[in-house]
Amino acid sequence: MSTPATSPSASTTPKPYEPATPAMAATSTAIVGLQWGDEGKGKIVNLLTDRHDAIVRYNGGANAGHSVVVKGERFALHLIPSGIMHADKPAVVGPGVVIDPEWLLKEVAGLRKRGVGCENLVISDHAHVVMPWHKLEDELREAFLSANSVEPIGTTRRGIGPCYADKAQRSTAIRIADLLRPEVLSQKLATIVPFKNAVLAAIARPGSTFVPYDHRTLLEQFAALGEQLRPFVTGASKLLLDMAHSGKSILFEGANATLLDVDHGTYPYVTSSTCSALGAPAGAGVPFTCVRSILGVMKAYSTRVGGGVMPTELINSDADRAIADGIRQRGREFGTTTGRPRRVGWLDLVAVRYSARLNGVHGLCLMLLDVLAGVDTLMVADRYEVDGSPTNTFVPDAHWLAGARPIYRSFPGFSADITAARSLRELPTQARTYMEFIEQTIGVPIRFVSVGPDRAQTIEC
Ligand code: IMP
Repeated sequence: MSTPATSPSASTTPKPYEPATPAMAATSTAIVGLQWGDEGKGKIVNLLTDRHDAIVRYNGGANAGHSVVVKGERFALHLIPSGIMHADKPAVVGPGVVIDPEWLLKEVAGLRKRGVGCENLVISDHAHVVMPWHKLEDELREAFLSANSVEPIGTTRRGIGPCYADKAQRSTAIRIADLLRPEVLSQKLATIVPFKNAVLAAIARPGSTFVPYDHRTLLEQFAALGEQLRPFVTGASKLLLDMAHSGKSILFEGANATLLDVDHGTYPYVTSSTCSALGAPAGAGVPFTCVRSILGVMKAYSTRVGGGVMPTELINSDADRAIADGIRQRGREFGTTTGRPRRVGWLDLVAVRYSARLNGVHGLCLMLLDVLAGVDTLMVADRYEVDGSPTNTFVPDAHWLAGARPIYRSFPGFSADITAARSLRELPTQARTYMEFIEQTIGVPIRFVSVGPDRAQTIEC
């Protein structure tokens, strides 16, 4: 009996399934930070909103801080997507976000005062609510670590971790939809309030008088907040799903950044959500196949706020600290959310390469290049020394990272002010050499270079 001839590749390579969703737009894009946050994602989101039909925040809460400069005016946003400035496109706060209602309404009021109407704001009914006890628990946990000589996480104290923890617990969680149904809210509070009062009284700092939460007061307060939110609240997942399946393009706005991702960041010094692009479909409620291209946003150097190891931090000598101070001042490296001065370091390409690979980025956005003007010699880490051997592997684990020493390459700096450059040709050779090294090391092309905070101060490559 003769056996039919099969080519080896036909028998070993599985055939891809036919796409089940041929209508998906080819232009849906996720924008993610590749470092420890504050890379300038808001500016890129704002630039790319023109090319998409809707914008969605898929993770985090009021811990994020995006500054957007439009026509010389600076807007600091925390919960509301940067796309809000484009009144004709839905700016969605997705189901994966945790919302502090008071904070969100304050942001809406602030924007309205400055002429941004927010009529395009859409809030998912499935997003979770940050309650007062989440913020208190966040604070108490940090204080507990300090009191026990453990480095605190350095959280923003916005209640992010405790709120996500309750979301996973389920029985002690409140969703935005619950604020619109006072009877449901009342039922939930009836069990949650006594539970939280018992736990918080037990862990409150010795000497502090914990004032227990009151069911009635909270019911009134949060039902009233729900009423104010009502015009914005809808089944955002259905809206996005319908858009995705009818070929509309969606811009996914990542908050925080890859190295703060709860699963893939420098654990435990991370936030509590999936802030890499891996979280985009889950946090927005659309299929994976909807996210067609991914842009990774990175600074031309490194910054970090909060605790945790940062291998290239500039803190080892007076000279290092002076360079860091200069970068901090020129780059306005003070937290948008908490005002804390950010820790500053040389560019860490071991970390960025890891993030780029994890997210599968198609292009890089290199931000704040202008801030490096005037630094005589630019140092870039492209390997670490771990246990006496060089490696370009990055292990997202704080303990491992503590044993990693950066190995640097040096590049001549540039002194010219580049804030008026609008093409690559206008950049000094030294800046272009620096950029080429970044592209080669990461293996991904740079698509945007930012040379100043304004939208116009951008070079599209
Ligand atoms: P949390 O998100 O408030 O729990 O804080 C956890 C860690 O993430 C802390 O080190 C914060 O400083 C950091 N973090 C959270 N969000 C951001 C952000 O948007 N930019 C920079 N750091 C952030």
